[in-house]
Amino acid sequence: METDEFPDGHHREGERLQKILARLGLGSRRTCDDMIAAGRVTVDGEVATLGQRIDSDSAIVEIDGSRVPVRPDLVYRLLNKPGQVVSTASDPQGRKTVVELVPGEPRVFPVGRLDYDTEGLILLTNDGDLTHRLTHPSFGVDKEYLAHVEGNPTRGTLRRLREGVELEDGMTAPAKVSQPSPGLLRIVIHEGRNRQVRRMCEVVGHPVLRLVRTRIGPLAENKLKAGQWRELTFEEVRSLYSTAVAR
Ligand code: URA
Repeated sequence: METDEFPDGHHREGERLQKILARLGLGSRRTCDDMIAAGRVTVDGEVATLGQRIDSDSAIVEIDGSRVPVRPDLVYRLLNKPGQVVSTASDPQGRKTVVELVPGEPRVFPVGRLDYDTEGLILLTNDGDLTHRLTHPSFGVDKEYLAHVEGNPTRGTLRRLREGVELEDGMTAPAKVSQPSPGLLRIVIHEGRNRQVRRMCEVVGHPVLRLVRTRIGPLAENKLKAGQWRELTFEEVRSLYSTAVAR
């Protein structure tokens, strides 16, 4: 035990930064010291110093300008949502919610929404800052969907979807759209309007039969069965933070 550590694990004046970074798997304490000495690490916007202690409950730590999640109480759970589950924290109609599919403690909230019938990846966390970054349109994180649609869209239709289509709440932003097999569209959008993919496909005459989200920014996962979840790795949280930068 370090002399500055109380038996309950708390520290007199916060914990040494290089120790926290090493614990997160960023390298040995020596490597972390080198990063600090090279001026690559900031705490609350100020370049960190060797031996600096921080309060990991509140400090904002960045390496090379990208946020490092140091708060020990934050959890990040990636769920493969089945259909017929709501992605709100509670449902007045008593339907099953995504929150019921992950452990109840600590309490987590879904980041954004998937429709009741939509399947696929959804993140649940108690990290309000990351939630804000991932859901706010100005951060524009890519989300990829596989849409099984009615009929077989032509190349012209794919082009329309790519360039943007008129919905009742305005034009959609340019999207990436491909057709890996007839009637199956891979669509990447970064706007996240309500029922956007379904409405885009509907407006070009190819209603969605089944919709699955296959990627959220850097997070793509195909090993989770419907209803299963896993914890994000530290590197995944870090890469989410560095993806969710204002456009
Ligand atoms: N677009 C949709 O139409 N539905 C979703 O659940 C997500 C994106």
